[in-house]
Amino acid sequence: WKTLDEIDLNGKTVLVRVDINVPMENGVVTDATRIEKIVPTVKDIQAKGGKVVLLAHYDRPKGKVVPEMSLAHVQGALAAALGGKVVFGSDCVGDVAKAAIKGAGPGDVVLLENTRFHAGEEKNAPELAAAMAELGDVYVNDAFSAAHRAHASTAGLAHLLPAAAGRLMEAELRALEAALGAPERPVVAVVGGAKVSTKLDLLGNLVSKVDHLVIGGGMANTFLVAQGVEVGKSLAERDMADTAREIMGKAQAAGCTIHLPVDVVVAREFKANAANECVPTADCPADAMILDAGPATVAALEQVFATAKTLIWNGPLGAFEIEPFDAATNAAARAVAGLTRAGKLISVAGGGDTVAALNKAGAAADFSFISTAGGAFLEWMEGKDLPGVSALG
Ligand code: 3PG
Repeated sequence: WKTLDEIDLNGKTVLVRVDINVPMENGVVTDATRIEKIVPTVKDIQAKGGKVVLLAHYDRPKGKVVPEMSLAHVQGALAAALGGKVVFGSDCVGDVAKAAIKGAGPGDVVLLENTRFHAGEEKNAPELAAAMAELGDVYVNDAFSAAHRAHASTAGLAHLLPAAAGRLMEAELRALEAALGAPERPVVAVVGGAKVSTKLDLLGNLVSKVDHLVIGGGMANTFLVAQGVEVGKSLAERDMADTAREIMGKAQAAGCTIHLPVDVVVAREFKANAANECVPTADCPADAMILDAGPATVAALEQVFATAKTLIWNGPLGAFEIEPFDAATNAAARAVAGLTRAGKLISVAGGGDTVAALNKAGAAADFSFISTAGGAFLEWMEGKDLPGVSALG
């Protein structure tokens, strides 16, 4: 793929696919991170003499016009982040879109309506991609977090115009390459979350690529069950025990060490500040559930982290959303942050709850790279091809 430095943008109308699928409450953006992250790309294209036209989806309207999912709600937050005027076009193709682009003055950014209001978007319909291509001269994809979708605006359009990766896409791809493509070893992967069943492909891919695999959260309970450990009332997928054993076998064959909790924090209720105690993992009472890893586990992890050169993190180690069961996630995240700050570790994190957990721990700012992606980050960690990236060539 090409970068913005390798494509002629001067005097061109540049169609930029961005991901501004931001959280919103009552029509007001509550977290503008994804909007802020596209600012460098927009400014760079403008500095190189291009007119920026943004294409994006919002939520999942399934091919229908759903007013609450209009990108008009994002226009204000976008203008604020860019510090400039944003012209809104109430359709992403056709005369309405063309008029918005024509009417935009020098330095204005054009934001077109939700691409998913057209059924052809998710079907990657050639007619829709062709209608989009009519609007501009060059295509830039800056939506890494939507790159796991083979849609008209993320994949089809890339084949119809000269195409390049935006700055955010470029940064995401370089960080991921540094973490799993050609990493400095040893490499540690920290994978948490509730269910093994949703992360099977991911675990299967990681054991053949990393030196250490730390498993936390509810997933760890399933692995403990697979080893014959009693986990009481803990969340565990008992029917996945065979699969967990297979993953452990594959890891052993590949020279990857799996790390499970050696002590756990248990409680009788799943609620904040529930009475709790810390016990060796083998001693979980029959009427209790594991809600976090204990301090001995964290200490062991800190030792593993200290030997590593590269670390990739997806998912919390415990029930981080309720205190005090966020303790292991917080402590481990802060250890990674400290090693990264000291220049000893390259750390990359991404996916759904992960960023929220690292933010809550106050550790996110020190990670080498935090991905804006949820599903795309996971699919990439699973070793899958991302259509939005491969379409860039
Ligand atoms: C995301 O929020 O992860 C991306 O915008 C992709 O959204 P989707 O899962 O609706 O395709």
